Amino acid sequence: MKKTVLVSGGAGFIGSHVTVELIAAGYDVVVADNMSNCDLTCFEGVKKITGREDIPFVKMDFCDMDAVRRLFSQYSIDAVIHFAAFKAVGESVAEPLKYYKNNLISFMNILESGCPNVLFSSSATVYGEPEQVPVTEQSPRQPATSPYGNTKQICEDILQDTVKASGGALRGILLRYFNPIGAHPSALIGELPRGVPNNLVPFITQTAIGKRECLSIFGNDYPTADGTCLRDYIDIVDLAKAHVYAVRRMLDGKMEQGCEVYNVGTGRPVSVLELVNAFEKVNNLKLNYKFAPRRAGDVTAIWADPTLANEKLGWKAERSVEDTLKSAWAWELHLAGK
Ligand code: UFG
Repeated sequence: MKKTVLVSGGAGFIGSHVTVELIAAGYDVVVADNMSNCDLTCFEGVKKITGREDIPFVKMDFCDMDAVRRLFSQYSIDAVIHFAAFKAVGESVAEPLKYYKNNLISFMNILESGCPNVLFSSSATVYGEPEQVPVTEQSPRQPATSPYGNTKQICEDILQDTVKASGGALRGILLRYFNPIGAHPSALIGELPRGVPNNLVPFITQTAIGKRECLSIFGNDYPTADGTCLRDYIDIVDLAKAHVYAVRRMLDGKMEQGCEVYNVGTGRPVSVLELVNAFEKVNNLKLNYKFAPRRAGDVTAIWADPTLANEKLGWKAERSVEDTLKSAWAWELHLAGK
């Protein structure tokens, strides 16, 4: 029988790509979102890509336990992938309670629903400034530098503790994402940042299209080869596929521990300047950029050791950074109606 996966926050950037890949892999999907940080653009795109007009969509807030109960009584859910959360680092510093309330309560409500399989979207931010790179899942977590980062760590702990206490009734997977970038090759879904983008690639594409005047590269005096920060940029479709492998492992009863943790990255460090240069080259354009002071809170260098996900999930990042940067640009052009 077909299994049903609930994607909370499924109308957003990562959630919409995951919905596409789950449907392609033969799962039924229920999408739920409160639409606080997106519109229906991506959900409409998902329907076009999959050719499925009938994907159930529930507009709801996971902080509302009555709404969560109603959702779980309406649908028979085999697994939840939880994305519904606030994600702006700077905003979380200014409004910590907003972040703690929303990100923690919504996740606890999901766990209280009693669903036996829960996958949580964590982040490489839990590693802070790592002493050694690449980081493995065993690398120590560092104290979070923002309330946003702290909610990721606390949710990881909540899931670990709840799995432990469940006596085998609950299985959990924590996926620690590195830097997700790009868009679906169809250019029908992608990232839709509200206001001025915080993240590098949306800022690059908006500068290239003329929405922003100039990209500031934050810091060129880091102890790296070209002086700019190193990150592990993971293609959004590759990242989405990792969720399918992880959910399959849960639902097929293949897990070796109650709660498993995986890095989702390429294992390949790329500097900010390299990324900018690659964007210019593959899309055959010139980007207006300048070097600016370091951004507070940025780590110098972090990239993944993805061996565990490669071996246990059977997943591997496949798309080149060049193809990913082409897809990011195609999405920006699509948004501009070009
Ligand atoms: N950068 C620029 N200019 C910009 C934007 C970013 O030079 O306009 C640089 C940053 O300094 C950094 C790199 O590009 O060196 C990547 O920055 P992003 O903001 O795209 O990504 P981060 O690595 O800072 O963010 C990641 C995750 C977040 C998480 C954060 C925690 O995407 O979800 O790490 O530090 F919260």
